[in-house]
Amino acid sequence: MSVPATQKQWLIEGQDNDFKGLVYQDGPIPKVGENEVLVKLSGASLNYRDLIIPKGMYPFPLDLPVVAGSDGAGEVLAVGSKVTTWKQGDKVVTLFNQGHQFGPISDAASKSGLGGVLDGTLRQYGVFNENGLVRAPANLSHVEAATLTCAGLTSWNALYGLKPLKPGETVLVQGTGGVSLFTLQFAKAAGARVIATTSSAAKAEKLKQLGADFVINYVEDKNWGETARKCVPDGIDHVIEVGGEATLTQSLKAVKFEGIISIIGFLGGTQPKDSIMEVLSRICTIRGVYVGSKAQMVEMVAAIEANDIKPVIDQKVFTLETAKEAYEYMWKKGHFGKVGITIE
Ligand SMILES: NC(=O)c1ccc[n+]([C@@H]2O[C@H](COP(=O)([O-])OP(=O)(O)OC[C@H]3O[C@@H](n4cnc5c(N)ncnc54)[C@H](OP(=O)(O)O)[C@@H]3O)[C@@H](O)[C@H]2O)c1
Repeated sequence: MSVPATQKQWLIEGQDNDFKGLVYQDGPIPKVGENEVLVKLSGASLNYRDLIIPKGMYPFPLDLPVVAGSDGAGEVLAVGSKVTTWKQGDKVVTLFNQGHQFGPISDAASKSGLGGVLDGTLRQYGVFNENGLVRAPANLSHVEAATLTCAGLTSWNALYGLKPLKPGETVLVQGTGGVSLFTLQFAKAAGARVIATTSSAAKAEKLKQLGADFVINYVEDKNWGETARKCVPDGIDHVIEVGGEATLTQSLKAVKFEGIISIIGFLGGTQPKDSIMEVLSRICTIRGVYVGSKAQMVEMVAAIEANDIKPVIDQKVFTLETAKEAYEYMWKKGHFGKVGITIE
């Protein structure tokens, strides 16, 4: 495949309320350094984080202007002279924090996020350090594989990064976004029970089809944390907290003694009302999770292949050219699972 001189890309030039700072333009194809790999990107997907970067609401390090998007998958086109891990034709998926290889995240690695600090994946071609890529699962398409970079790996880290989930334990997931649905799928594959919440009756049916053991409508049942606790006599071992201010009070009611609340997101605001002393009265662990390492991603890929897990992609899939419509679509919260983007 011949590589053109320029490519199409989405650049975040500035921040405003209407995604106006997200610009579709011609960009360069970076030169491949000796430890780098040129990838023809064919699939991408969006995360809530991708939406709030151009909106100016993202609280973590950024270096604008930057090519948007953390989630990407495609095929290796060329490798630098010192690359040993990859060869032309390998199918790969991007690592979110390019510097987070294994173990606890370092300060430097926490500032190596694609589509935030480093140029991301909403483009036709990307050049990455050879350590910033992971082999894509053989059972997934490029768009499916792309969804693993952020939502997939975050779920995996939440379930296995501190106190690994065991068969027979119970996991609570909130809403039907990417992180929550990956957690549901990983937990069911591990032989755990899943309690899921949603605001929608139609989505409740889909959650049951995916294997959720109990589904609670969090709009109708404001005290859903207590309700969740009553569903399982032994209580909830892992709560995957994505709502922040809107959900933490109920998550604290749901978690069992010695259980873990993984603080992942803040879809419902960032100012929870509960005192930190609640952690003592609930005798639980509250843990912040920031995506995950390459070592964890390799383990996750193995589990996805062994269990033939297919990421849940919303029925509406976009193209690179129409990616801004994907941002607007996801912002309205009509999606179920991941919003996918194909790249020609
Ligand atoms: N810490 C990390 O490393 C990390 C990594 C990935 C994501 N995140 C964060 O995790 C959160 C989820 O990300 P995502 O990409 O999965 O989001 P997403 O796909 O945009 O999730 C949207 C869904 O979340 C549900 N939701 C919204 N408000 C809710 C509330 N108050 N209570 C319960 N559910 C609610 C809704 O489900 P229903 O329509 O079913 O009601 C909505 O459709 C975001 O805040 C994101 O920034 C953090």
